[in-house]
Amino acid sequence: MIGKALSIGYAYGMNIFPEFSTASEVRWDALIFGHLFWNRYFGETPDNPPRGAPSTCSSVLIRGRGYCLMVDPAIRHSAEECYFDLNRRTGLLPEAVTHCFSTHHHFDHWNGLKYFPNAQWLTAKGNAPLIAEAVREAVNRDPGDGLSPAIPAERIQEVSGEFLPGVYALPLPGHTDSLHGIAFRSGKKRILIAADSVMTSGHFADRITEFQPDPAMQKTAASTIADIAESFDLVVPGHDNLIVL
Ligand SMILES: [Fe+2]
Ligand SMILES: [Fe+2]
Repeated sequence: MIGKALSIGYAYGMNIFPEFSTASEVRWDALIFGHLFWNRYFGETPDNPPRGAPSTCSSVLIRGRGYCLMVDPAIRHSAEECYFDLNRRTGLLPEAVTHCFSTHHHFDHWNGLKYFPNAQWLTAKGNAPLIAEAVREAVNRDPGDGLSPAIPAERIQEVSGEFLPGVYALPLPGHTDSLHGIAFRSGKKRILIAADSVMTSGHFADRITEFQPDPAMQKTAASTIADIAESFDLVVPGHDNLIVL
């Protein structure tokens, strides 16, 4: 935390760009920019979602010293489709992925871990038990269509701070209590994979989140977005295109 400053055009935001212990450069590739199954900024409502559940989340691959990290592997129709997404952006095969990170416990942000059984599965503090519970709930609701939502949630380890050289698990509360994004520097840019702390560019502009009924948490979400606006040059939202600040 570096200090308070005025976030132009809106409320006060705080600089939350983390300090890194290493000067590691990373390379990053956006594999998928996600979408919402209904989007209020398209004039849509939850009672008639036009794209079917679940939503697709944004997926980013980060390569640093000794690792290849997939953040929020998105659910696809098949593993092959996921591997094609990876390959067409990077030329890599799935075996290259050493780590996966799930930003929070909502289904669309953890179910894609299943595509990378040989990678280490990571999440940030507070999320592992929530994901384990979400897996149990998903299995209970399994329609039996042969696409089991089960994953071995006990494999997921919690990490914090700069858990790999050059990437930092940053707390971004509001959408959920324990959602963490991934902050890093690439070139001179301060970049955040925000996941659902910033659902779309519209939610960012209006300082709101989705699927969070608690007014206190909605306030927290607005404050988190103000902090993000103060602290980053590029933001990858959970369900939209890149936001350039
Ligand atoms: Fe979410
Ligand atoms: Fe999401």
